[in-house]
Amino acid sequence: MTRLYDQAVDIDPARVRQFFDDRAKREKNAINAVMLQSEGSSIAIERDRYERENLLPSLPQPGKILDLGCGAGRLATHYAPHGHTYMGIDFSSELIVKGRELHGDNPKVLFEIAEVPKIDVANLPVQPPFDLIVVTGLLIYLNDGAVTETLRLLGELAAPTATIYLRESVSDIETRLTLKDFYSEELKEYYNGVYRTRAELKAEFAKTLEHDRFAIAAEGYVFQGALRNRVETTQYFYRFERNQ
Ligand SMILES: C[S@@+](CC[C@H](N)C(=O)[O-])C[C@H]1O[C@@H](n2cnc3c(N)ncnc32)[C@H](O)[C@@H]1O
Repeated sequence: MTRLYDQAVDIDPARVRQFFDDRAKREKNAINAVMLQSEGSSIAIERDRYERENLLPSLPQPGKILDLGCGAGRLATHYAPHGHTYMGIDFSSELIVKGRELHGDNPKVLFEIAEVPKIDVANLPVQPPFDLIVVTGLLIYLNDGAVTETLRLLGELAAPTATIYLRESVSDIETRLTLKDFYSEELKEYYNGVYRTRAELKAEFAKTLEHDRFAIAAEGYVFQGALRNRVETTQYFYRFERNQ
């Protein structure tokens, strides 16, 4: 299989997990393990810095943060110094091992291995409601039904005045692009991901987050210039605020 345009075909979550477990073992740098760029490129590090400096919403007071598909806790590095309690969930046990190594000395940074959206909420070490939920680069690895379920879950886990920061790889052409068992010359590995159009994402929000009183407060392209280096796909963000 390869690049599929405008088709609703499922990808295999087990292959996605294997891909990230392999990267976690291979890549020394935790940022390179989750922000996918060719070997030797500094773009992942620059993108991480740019996003943290320019886009991550700040919380007025220390609060509880949930990071779904957290990788090795890249965003814990951003929030932990400000006294927030951070709960990261990811299904790659290898990335979670890396996250625990990096943040193990901070009792307010906790990780859980689980597949989104099949989370056993009652047994999470940090209990909802969460003041900020971040979802960066996760939906691309979920099939349509799981995207809907995940967005519904956000409504259940969020505090009455919560913010959601959602940043995704999206299709920058008119149709959805699915990479299914696609051999990437750049990554030297088989890769799976669903690049939805922004219209498709908006339709998902309409049947989930909007019903849970979330409205888009800001949205836009994440990177410009050299950091926006793909032809058919791009990074796009949404910041949702919940109306009382
Ligand atoms: C591109 S990385 C982004 C990591 C992190 N959010 C960041 O921005 O640094 C995607 C992450 O989603 C995780 N992931 C993909 N599908 C998942 C699922 N169904 N459940 C939990 N984690 C998943 C992968 O293991 C990987 O860590």
